[in-house]
Amino acid sequence: MDDLRKNYLDRIAVAASEAALEEVRIAALGKKGEISLKMRELGAMEPAARAAAGAALNVLRDEIDSALRARKAALGDAALDERLAAEWLDVTLPGRPRRQGTIHPISQVWEEVTAIFADMGFAVAEGPEVESDWYNFDALNIPGHHPARAEMDTFYMHRAPDDNRPPAVLRTHTSPVQIRSMEAQGAPLRIICPGRVYRADYDQTHTPNFHQVEGLALDRDLTMANLKWVLEEFFSAYFGTRVRTRFRASHFPFTEPSAEVDIQCSFEGGTVHVGEGDGWLEVLGSGMVHPKVLKAGGIDPAKAQGFAFGMGIDRIAMLKYGIPDLRSFFESDLRWLRHYGFAALDVPTLHGGVAR
Ligand code: DAH
Repeated sequence: MDDLRKNYLDRIAVAASEAALEEVRIAALGKKGEISLKMRELGAMEPAARAAAGAALNVLRDEIDSALRARKAALGDAALDERLAAEWLDVTLPGRPRRQGTIHPISQVWEEVTAIFADMGFAVAEGPEVESDWYNFDALNIPGHHPARAEMDTFYMHRAPDDNRPPAVLRTHTSPVQIRSMEAQGAPLRIICPGRVYRADYDQTHTPNFHQVEGLALDRDLTMANLKWVLEEFFSAYFGTRVRTRFRASHFPFTEPSAEVDIQCSFEGGTVHVGEGDGWLEVLGSGMVHPKVLKAGGIDPAKAQGFAFGMGIDRIAMLKYGIPDLRSFFESDLRWLRHYGFAALDVPTLHGGVAR
């Protein structure tokens, strides 16, 4: 009995893992374990000897059992201690700083413009950047022979020689969204469409991809006066100061009458200051929507009329934030983005002041 005890208690004491411990348990207390076999032998003994040996075996079994449990708990504690030591982490250390990205000025201005027009009840409409030449030109009263088509330096989509679908273009302006919105909603209607547009042109003031925001308002009796009020409200909110506008008679195929709109500014000290001085800067085209355009959009010109305008987002971003070169918008220069970009939470709202 003493040999058995010593043997198993020694083996338990040196078992280095839960698996080794389990082997010891099976050898002693398993179905065919040494202690279990000894217990089975009790049946063949004399009653007196059996009573004594049985009691001693029970004590031994309990002793081994509790030694196993104690050792198992100790192994678990040791494993946990080891993990705690290895995986220790000082959560009070300062974090490693990571460079934050910035919001591109065009995205920022896009949101600012949207916030201001939304406040005047304009919804945001969208259209495809790959557009059919019907939406981009014909529906806007720009027929095939019209000089405006040639002037626009249009990118035409490639087509296989036997492809007879009508030509598709990269939209040269956001005006096709006027037609799509009329078709989708009819009149009355009040939308703006900020979006990307494309023209095959590249120099200091032109990039092949740029941005416009289109505006369209239709109702029974809208006039140029409504157009002028909307634009002056917009520019004043956008630049954060009262901005006077000047309307100059012009021509666009999709409006009649048409006007180019200038905003008041000074050029003092070589920089542009909007809303002061007696200089003028052209910022958009506009007019009363041409009856042919209304018809192309499925609207009866006898029942609805209204105004439209188209403005360069890049242009007004440059004016507001003093960005000198249009091309820099598209160069993805990180130093430029850090300088002119906006913090992610600098979200434009009217109550927060769209103008900064
Ligand atoms: N689509 C014109 C352009 O890209 C701009 C424009 C002029 C839009 C007059 C209009 C408008 O809606 O009425 O040059």
